[in-house]
Amino acid sequence: MKIQQNISLKNYNTFGIDVTAKRFVSVDSVYQLKQLLKTEKDIFLISGGSNMLLTKNIEKLVVHIDIKGISIDNEDDNNAYITVNAGENWHEFVLWSVSQNYGGIENLSLIPGNVGTCPIQNIGAYGVEVKDIITKVEALEIATQKLNTFSNQDCNFEYRNSIFKNEVKGKYIITAVCFKLTKKHHKLNTSYGAIETELASKKIEKPTLKNISDAVIAIRKSKLPDPKVIGNSGSFFKNPVINKEAFLALQKKYPNIPSYIISENERKVPAGWLIEKAGFKGKRFGDFGVHEKQALVLVNYGNASGKDIYQLAEKIQQTILEQFKITLEIEVNIIQ
Ligand code: EPU
Repeated sequence: MKIQQNISLKNYNTFGIDVTAKRFVSVDSVYQLKQLLKTEKDIFLISGGSNMLLTKNIEKLVVHIDIKGISIDNEDDNNAYITVNAGENWHEFVLWSVSQNYGGIENLSLIPGNVGTCPIQNIGAYGVEVKDIITKVEALEIATQKLNTFSNQDCNFEYRNSIFKNEVKGKYIITAVCFKLTKKHHKLNTSYGAIETELASKKIEKPTLKNISDAVIAIRKSKLPDPKVIGNSGSFFKNPVINKEAFLALQKKYPNIPSYIISENERKVPAGWLIEKAGFKGKRFGDFGVHEKQALVLVNYGNASGKDIYQLAEKIQQTILEQFKITLEIEVNIIQ
């Protein structure tokens, strides 16, 4: 465990923003992390770097969580109970599960980032959220270096939200996540329109876990930019929930507006649709812009700064507020 000086973080964040860490250290075990925390408390954590926008150099010690390992804790006829260390790549874990015929996370294929950060924003896609298969989260308390276990209930999971973004934010480092996956009678979730269409186009009637994973990979590749090619952080904003009256008024003006029913009085509308309607889709301003195939994704074409991208996000928020009277909430962590 060696503390390095003046390290570029460009390869440690999927937006590919080139800021510098004054001091940087990579840790590959809980033991190393505990040792480090005895003397260093003012730290900045980085894991997969897939949900952050860095807008300035980092003065604190940057701690890169690189704790690897997957273990099967227990198995019965129907389920496998698996612990995955925080530094494992999420998509590789999904592919491994699918190859073992363990079901539950196939719809979450190709989501960037590491396993340790998946509970923080309760990653979700195509009708599945990670809260549906997490049994518990293990995390180290920074102040005491004690390992704590958060049960699924303790995590207070909500849409793109959890206790780790609220009450205990900045107080814990997630070291491992435990999952309950199915070994048979898989609960396949193909109801999301794009998956059904993709499977139908391949004439697949009885899909396997692999078929679903492949379908999700194909859909994501067709819409979302690969961070290795074009810097991005997935959805930049959350899909807003508005009240039914406001929605009906919008629908009168825009009869084709997509929506999802949240409750009797609430409707969720896709932020990507609003941003497209406001004319931002595919707009490029020098080295940054709005992705041409999915307006919810802001992109870095090369050497954009975090400030450039943040300013664009604010411009989009202001336009959506003026045009639709809807406040768009940013999903990505802005580091400023
Ligand atoms: N739409 C547009 N224009 C766009 C983008 C979307 O009109 O530029 C419309 C689509 O036609 C569709 C609706 O909006 O009717 C929903 O679009 P899509 O299925 O692409 O999903 P989304 O609501 O934009 C959410 C998640 C994604 C996740 C997909 C699939 C959020 C903030 N985003 O996007 O998550 O992959 O559903 O489940 O909830 C992420 O969080 O990084 C992410 C990519």
